[in-house]
Amino acid sequence: MTPKANKKVRKAVLPVAGLGTRFLPATKAIPKEMLPIVDKPLIQYAVEECVASGIEHIIFVTGRHKSAIEDHFDLAPELEAFLDERGKPEQARIVREISDGAQISYTRQSVALGLGHAVLCAAELVGDEPFAVLLGDVIMDGKTPATRELAEIYEATSAGVIHVEEVRSERVHLYGIIDAEPALNEDPRWHNRLLQVKNLVEKPSADKAPSHFGVAGRYVLPPEIFEFLKHTKPGTGGEIQLTDALCKLAEQNRLLASVYEGKTRDAGDKLGFLQATVELGMRDPKLGKDFRAYLKGLKL
Ligand code: UTP
Repeated sequence: MTPKANKKVRKAVLPVAGLGTRFLPATKAIPKEMLPIVDKPLIQYAVEECVASGIEHIIFVTGRHKSAIEDHFDLAPELEAFLDERGKPEQARIVREISDGAQISYTRQSVALGLGHAVLCAAELVGDEPFAVLLGDVIMDGKTPATRELAEIYEATSAGVIHVEEVRSERVHLYGIIDAEPALNEDPRWHNRLLQVKNLVEKPSADKAPSHFGVAGRYVLPPEIFEFLKHTKPGTGGEIQLTDALCKLAEQNRLLASVYEGKTRDAGDKLGFLQATVELGMRDPKLGKDFRAYLKGLKL
């Protein structure tokens, strides 16, 4: 394959092997990624973003107790036939479309050793080409699908690229925070919102944070990241952090950050999950009107 053909971002890795401890007891037997926001499991929002971004092959990194995710994205011919027979073609279509759109593969992370380790588990399926990483508990909502924006930047620059968002001081200790300067890039599509990353710090205290830009949960990375991950030593909590490998890319001036223009909803903890449910519920084409009326009538 020529290097040029190699540059298109065709694959995405969705790590879903974490233990979801912040949601216990709900996540004792149900994967966090299968908790529904309005009427879709969290992970389906990320899969739909992949399809809208032109991703052809989605690679799930799963673990024990995660088979509900595989079942959700599998065909369900009996259910479809049942719905068709009962005169519910619209519901049959919704069920069918879940498994359409992209090729799906699964690989396993047998012990949850961190996000970096989960990404490394996908190395063989990704091969020697650039790829996207999407954190399934973050819903990115903008005019252009978040992963497509990153893929376009990668395809134009060949640099790894991540979305960042501005984070309030009291929340920087929850994020990977970048140290960056404006990138030299004249392309009007990203003018003024592309940064050259110099370093990243995982979950710093507010007084040690090098900026207010936090990593938002979307990445497009060159395949060389796997070499960095192989040599990354376990850090905080014995986990292999993706941030440490990103620092190596940044050291070589090969990591950009794009300040995300849309809305990021981190539904990975209980408060963020409730906020996402309310906001997306209010916007739902079928339920929104009644739900907004209900909220207005609440005595707060
Ligand atoms: P999170 O830290 O949000 O998920 O990781 P978690 O570890 O499941 O949740 P808590 O912190 O215990 O509540 C972001 C994504 O990375 C995956 C998770 O499944 C989640 O979708 N992940 C994390 C892995 O696949 N493997 C890991 O070792 C860690």
